Amino acid sequence: MALDPLPPLEEKGARVRAMFDRIAPRYDRLNRLLSAGLDQRWRREALDRIGVGQGDRVVDLACGTGDLAELSMERGAHVVGVDFALEMLGAARRRGIRAALFQADAEALPLPDEWATVATCGFALRNFVSLPAIFGELARVLEPGGRVAFIEVDRPRPALIRAAHTLYFDRIVPLVGGLLSDRSAYAYLPKSTVYLPPKAELLALLEDAGFEQVEHRPLLLGAAQIVTGIRRKS
Ligand SMILES: C[S@@+](CC[C@H](N)C(=O)[O-])C[C@H]1O[C@@H](n2cnc3c(N)ncnc32)[C@H](O)[C@@H]1O
Repeated sequence: MALDPLPPLEEKGARVRAMFDRIAPRYDRLNRLLSAGLDQRWRREALDRIGVGQGDRVVDLACGTGDLAELSMERGAHVVGVDFALEMLGAARRRGIRAALFQADAEALPLPDEWATVATCGFALRNFVSLPAIFGELARVLEPGGRVAFIEVDRPRPALIRAAHTLYFDRIVPLVGGLLSDRSAYAYLPKSTVYLPPKAELLALLEDAGFEQVEHRPLLLGAAQIVTGIRRKS
């Protein structure tokens, strides 16, 4: 099922799931290649920023093939990974990811209220159908004081950097992705940034869902971003 042009909202979930099922076998290799290995550095930075460590109970939302889940496990955390694309979870298993993995929609996590001390989410915000629904569900499963970190792609603001980034992200990424994996999926990748609300709106949505100390940190001159927050205590 093609994802180019962008799907209407009522079809988005099913089409995103089918797309990730399709690209799962080559997902990790393409990620490392297209980000020149920076994706893993950004995942580590996100975990550093919210201090993931021994004793944490982490839910990794839209865990995909398990990169973030595995990095949290290496720090001694207990991790539950949730994704709705079965082939992505299968790829995670084949890689030997040790986290408990569940197939579920991130809008309805298979976890009790206040179970998690930490929630992580890598490169999935623009793929969700409803950010308020996702943030509300995270607020439900995180204990008061629990920490959350999102990593996502972004578009740099300064004109020159933006032009170079546009050339790479909108032209080269779909070309390389099309040659090595799936043309429509890697055409969707740059286009899907339109689903991301502006920074101030994103932080406001998180605050409305029950988070405080929400912070935004640009990465690589604005080509990516980390957003963090704390679950309000009352
Ligand atoms: C770009 S991949 C990111 C995977 C992984 N987090 C990483 O850091 O590489 C996006 C993932 O989000 C998942 N996803 C998107 N919407 C979802 C939803 N509503 N519920 C569960 N998983 C979802 C997709 O199946 C896919 O595995």
